[in-house]
Amino acid sequence: MTVTMLRSVVEAALRRAPTSSSSSSNQLLRRRCYSSDSNPERKVAVLGAAGGIGQPLSLLMKLNQLVSSLSLYDIAGTPGVAADVSHINTRSQVKGYVGEDQLGQALEGADVVIIPAGVPRKPGMTRDDLFNINASIVKSLCTAIAKFCPNALVTMISNPVNSTVPIAAEVFKKAGTYDEKKLFGVTTLDVVRAKTFYAGKENVPVAECVSQLQNSACVCTSEVNVPVVGGHAGITILPLFSQATPTSNLSEEDIAALTKRTQDGGTEVVEAKAGKGSATLSMAYAGAIFADACLKGLNGVPDIIECSFVQSSITELPFFASKVRLGKNGVEEVLGLGTLSDYEKQGLGNLIPELKSSIEKGIKFANQ
Ligand code: NAD
Ligand code: LMR
Repeated sequence: MTVTMLRSVVEAALRRAPTSSSSSSNQLLRRRCYSSDSNPERKVAVLGAAGGIGQPLSLLMKLNQLVSSLSLYDIAGTPGVAADVSHINTRSQVKGYVGEDQLGQALEGADVVIIPAGVPRKPGMTRDDLFNINASIVKSLCTAIAKFCPNALVTMISNPVNSTVPIAAEVFKKAGTYDEKKLFGVTTLDVVRAKTFYAGKENVPVAECVSQLQNSACVCTSEVNVPVVGGHAGITILPLFSQATPTSNLSEEDIAALTKRTQDGGTEVVEAKAGKGSATLSMAYAGAIFADACLKGLNGVPDIIECSFVQSSITELPFFASKVRLGKNGVEEVLGLGTLSDYEKQGLGNLIPELKSSIEKGIKFANQ
């Protein structure tokens, strides 16, 4: 359902309302669309909230009616971002925290922690080139998470995701708080891109479901779906166009081109931004979709399935991105790969060594 259609449905419902007083209209609007009354209290913390991703992501989380408390943390700039976002008339109470001294307060009681802290790529860099700086940032943030909100779901955006997720796992293991069901590498942007590129090629409407971000009551249907598995860097990103819906008869050349564009999506943005960072707006959208799915899972909404880079045994690697079912404790089930085409089987074989070495690099760093 498009936003315009959704608005028309609500407006039509309001016109049919028994009285035309604004208070009854408001009640109906609340009942139909903003069912915050029935949602439990949920605290979401964004670490790196003043950054290119952090700011729009904080905005999107402020629009999410599943959030009752929004905690914005960064090493600088969060008071301004928090003051700004806090004026939006939605459910959550917003607080800004700045500097390490306030990190504990920012995290205390969090149900979901979203981490977009760290440096982004410039043209010519790989995600692995960010390792030296971002690995240390992630390690210290995860040390604090283990101390102040050990039961939170942690959604890792900071690159290189293929290494930062294993780093987080090792930090939590050392602290005795590791729960493999609660740690996620956010690969949603790969899925978002694959859907967009596939829909464009097939000339079918891609999902327009902003209401997913804004309220949990409306039913949203995604018209296009493409699972993306593996990891989150170059060839480790493996879109499964053979499983895309609606189904298609794309040629091998088209599938190869779509696969390459999905794998290079991040680089496409980095080059277009010409030194001014990497994807921020589409990433904020993707991060908000994934956080929303985590919150719905925590709240017991059934059949919440997203792709994510998680601890896994579906391949020989200890971490792997695939579809996962989310529930009240985080990952409820890591779903298998399904039937792969020969092209995808080859892609899977090719990605294993690179993904393995990125995972091992993260584990080694965390333990030195
Ligand atoms: P940015 O530089 O605009 O923002 C990063 C923010 O992190 C800054 O505000 C900075 O102050 C903050 N920060 C640095 N150290 C911190 C710390 N110790 N604690 C808290 N905050 C800290 O960068 P960005 O464009 O927002 O990108 C952030 C990260 O997300 C990068 O590593 C980037 O590669 C990654 N990214 C991942 C995906 C994905 O699909 N997973 C997509 C896009 C970007
Ligand atoms: C992306 O996929 O856009 C991110 O991983 C950022 C990057 O460096 O490409």
